[in-house]
Parts: sequence; structure tokens; C-alpha cells
Amino acid sequence: MKILGISAHYHDSAAALLIDGVPVAAVQEERLSRRKNDAGFPLAAIEWCLDHGGLQTADLDAVVFYERSMLKFERILTCALRSFPRSWKSFPHAIKNSLGEKVWVRGIIASYLDVPRNKILFTGHHASHAAAAFLTAPTDRAAILTADGVGEWATLTTGHGERRADRSTAITLEREIRFPHSLGMLYSTFTAYLGFSVNEDEYKVMGLAAYGRPTLAAQVRKLIHRTPDGAFTLAPEYFEYQSSASRSYSQRFVDLFGRPRGPYEPIDFQTEDGQRFADCAASVQHVLEETLVDIARTLHQETGLPDLCFGGGVALNGVANARILAESGFERMFVPSAPGDAGCALGAALYADRIHFKNPDRPVPDHPFWGPAVDAGELARAAKEDGQVVEELDQSALVERIADELAAGRIVGWMDGASEFGPRALGHRSILAAPHSREIRDRLNRDIKYREEFRPFAPVVPVEDVERYFELPRGGTRLARFMSGVFPVRGEWQERLAGVTHVDGSARVQALDPQMAPPLYALLKAYERRSGTSVLLNTSFNVAGEPIVNRALEGYSTFRRCGIDALVAGSTLVTKPAVPPAAARTEGAA
Ligand SMILES: [Fe+2]
Repeated sequence: MKILGISAHYHDSAAALLIDGVPVAAVQEERLSRRKNDAGFPLAAIEWCLDHGGLQTADLDAVVFYERSMLKFERILTCALRSFPRSWKSFPHAIKNSLGEKVWVRGIIASYLDVPRNKILFTGHHASHAAAAFLTAPTDRAAILTADGVGEWATLTTGHGERRADRSTAITLEREIRFPHSLGMLYSTFTAYLGFSVNEDEYKVMGLAAYGRPTLAAQVRKLIHRTPDGAFTLAPEYFEYQSSASRSYSQRFVDLFGRPRGPYEPIDFQTEDGQRFADCAASVQHVLEETLVDIARTLHQETGLPDLCFGGGVALNGVANARILAESGFERMFVPSAPGDAGCALGAALYADRIHFKNPDRPVPDHPFWGPAVDAGELARAAKEDGQVVEELDQSALVERIADELAAGRIVGWMDGASEFGPRALGHRSILAAPHSREIRDRLNRDIKYREEFRPFAPVVPVEDVERYFELPRGGTRLARFMSGVFPVRGEWQERLAGVTHVDGSARVQALDPQMAPPLYALLKAYERRSGTSVLLNTSFNVAGEPIVNRALEGYSTFRRCGIDALVAGSTLVTKPAVPPAAARTEGAA
């Protein structure tokens, strides 16, 4: 059976293809269209998935959309009517922004793809998140938690999943919290208040939180009331997102927390305002964590299961994930590589296959590499035409050479095989560097990533070495597989790993399984032979404002535009020609 999953029209559109119950392709539209967080109908992603699977649309048994658009329409209409006439201005905006073409989705899919309407199915938004988390995890029974901004009505669900001995599958979502009460919206409101982009920059709030203290946690708790059953409600007087299209927080919110930060205002921790912004971030982060830990602890007690699968955009918060694992009682925690809405394309396809069509369970390969493969020949051709130094090396010579480059303080663009599905670079589209000094971190921020200096870089380490450098709770290694947890760097390593240690002594580490990305694993070992440390700095291969590179040519163009010293695709190595001594002297003099 051939099933295409689609997520679209809100943010992070994507497509995924399942053949006989196993994923064969999944990619976010932005990687192909080169528009960051592309929310359009993912035609390029669909076309690539079908091509990769050798299929035409007529071969598809079903096309599954990741949420029920009519339910979403009902929510937007109901909310607009409830706050009428305050909402009359924002309603057309809400329809356009949040809903867009969504109510007409069946017709759009049918006409774009030329598939009969009866082959088009819809799953619940949080059912898609739950399926993406549970059906990709190597566990037979697990509790399930999903949390995001909002789907149709639900913003958080709890339940459980089961793969039975007869190979049937069940996903049961038993409880839900509904819009406008939403942990994702609470966090996004602070994201907007702190001058960052909503649905995009939430991780900046998490990075900023490390510079502050939760001195305003009591104020944040005024915004979110805990209910006796373990759930919560938000206090509507502090929010505007139900009735306003332009601002998500109210004047009362500003009265409570002070003047909001402008989007271009620098954050200077030496100033009172700068520290207040960091404290705001630390406080909302703290309240998010304590709320999630309590919900997860209750879920653990109710289900009595050792495993937790966590999906939805909130599961991208690695600091909260680490606390849930350490404090809720679960022994293992599975967060997929794409827990956000893009991952719903795969989740929706898996849900349709296992639950709707009742197909037998199949293990899903435990890696994130479902995107287009890099073409080393494309890189070699472009670089040669452009007068760069191009070398072809066998695998082991290449690894040794790159380890030398990294040990000498050079920065390497690293492309290998199929691209990652999800927002993290997990070893196939990475920028790599030595992890030891703050200088290299500052150079990356300044010359390559062009981004705020308060944002940390992540380390990658062979899975068997992870506890040597980092303090992980029980089950932490699994959470670190797809870089989903933030953990303390051991005290004795913090100075030697200064390039990847955040200001609070933590790091979002990837524990690399040798099977997952063998060339990167070999590189870590080769680097250890030179430096005594099997850790590298690993950051996504992109510059600020651009999606992660997909094709070799995009990697090459990035390499040419910024301070990356060497570029690898497969067995091809490109380095910039050495600067002639005369030019270097002129530069030095200037
Ligand atoms: Fe979502």
C-alpha cells in the first residue's frame, strides 16, 4: 500500500511517502523551495517523494492530510464570534493566516495531484503528532504526550500506544486540553514579547533563558492556573491572540512584565532591560518545565508504563525534555527527529496505514535521514569551474584529512547521504568545528551563522562516550539520539569544551550511534586520536535566515559566501585556495 502524507498551510509544510508500511521519503518544502518555514502547498516535496519512490500520483492508495480542516475552521469561527466585536478586524486575518486554503483542502489536493476525492483522508492534528512520536519509536507500549500551539482545538493530549502481538496497532488519546489554553501559545506569547518571530524563534527564548533567573516565575504563574486534575487554564486577560491579529499579549501583560523588546533591539545583559528580558525567558521556561513535568508524572502514574513518546512543537524544548525524563518517573523518552508540524506529514501517513487501514505493524528504521541524497559529482563540477581546489579521496583518507583540518582550527561544511527530516542537523548536513574554545564559537556566530551571540552550539559525541563528558539521567542517551535533550557538561570538561558549553554549563548533545552516520562517527574517532577528545561542535549547515542546505550546490554556495574553510560531499573535498602572501600582507596592513 502506498500512502502520501502532507502537512501544509500553517508553517513548515512537508510531505512523506510510505510504501508497505515503511517510510521511503520525507522532506520539508523549505529544503527544496529554499524559503525558510515555507508554509505553501508542498508540491516540490510531494514531487520529490513520488520520484524517489518511483511512483505516479495514480499509484497512490491514499493521500492523508495532517489535520481535520473543518474542525480548525470551526475553532477559528467560534473564537471570532465569542470575542465579537473586538475580533471583527482580526477575523479575516485569522482566516487568511491560520486557515488560508485549509477548508478547501480536499479540492486543492484533488486538483493539484489529480487523485480522486475518495482517496483523500484526514487525521486529527494531535493524532498525527502522536503517531509521529509513537510509531517511529522502537517500543511496543508507551505513554504518549503531545503539546503544541494549537491544532484544530487540542493543544495538549495524553494517552498511550500499543503494538500488539497480532501486529495490530492502537493509539488512544484519552485526555486533551483545548484552545485557548495552550503551553505552546504561552511560550509563543513570550517569544513575541521578547521581540522574536513566533513559530520560528522559540529556541532563542530557551537559549536566552540560560542568561537569566526565574525571578518572574510568580508573575508567569498568574497567566497559567493549574487545575486540580493536573491540567491548566490560561488567564485570558493577559492574552490577545484570540481577538487580535497584530499582537498576542495584552496591555495587562505589559503592565506585569514591563516594556516589550523591539525586534532589532540588542540584548545587553549589563543593562536592566537586557537582564529583565533574560529573566522573563528563564521564568516562562521554568513554568513550562514544571507544568510539563507534573502532567508527565501524572501520565506515568496513570499508565504505569516505563516509556514516554513526546510529540508536538513543544517537544523541541530540550531543556524541558531533560527535566521530564529526570523527574516524571519515565525510564525512556522518545522524541522523533521532526516532532513539529512538518513531522505530521510522516505521522499522518503512519496513522492512516496502521490505524485507518489496519495494516500490520512494521518497525520504522530508527534514523532521521529521509530526504534527498547529496550528489558529490555536482559539487566537484561546480567547484572546478569556479577555480577552487577539488580533491577526491577514499573514505579513510578523507576522514583523516578532515580530522587534521578540524584539529588545526578550521571550520568544515559536511554533507553526507540523505538529508535529515526535522530541524536538527544530525550528521548529514552539518558545519563542524573543534569544540574547545569560545573563540571558535564567536567566529562561527560572526563569520558564518550571522546570529545572536547568546545562542549556543551543540556537541556531537560517539554514543559510548557520552557519559564521559555529560551528566545524563537514566534514559538520557536515547533522548540524545536526535539531539532532543539539554544536559549538564561535566565540571571537569566545561573549560575544555567551552565552544559547546552554554553559559549555564549545559549542552544539547547528540549521542551518535555508529550505525546512524558511519563517516561522522569515524571522524569523531579520528579527531580523538589527535586531540584526546571525541567531541566536535556540530551546527546545522545554513546561514541565518536560510533553510539548511539540501543539494551539494547549496552547500557550495554557502561555503563561498561565508568563512567555512573546507567542504565535504561524499568523497569530494573542496578547499579555498591559499591566500597569496602579497594579498595576505595587504589584508593584514588594512
Ligand atoms: Fe502541531
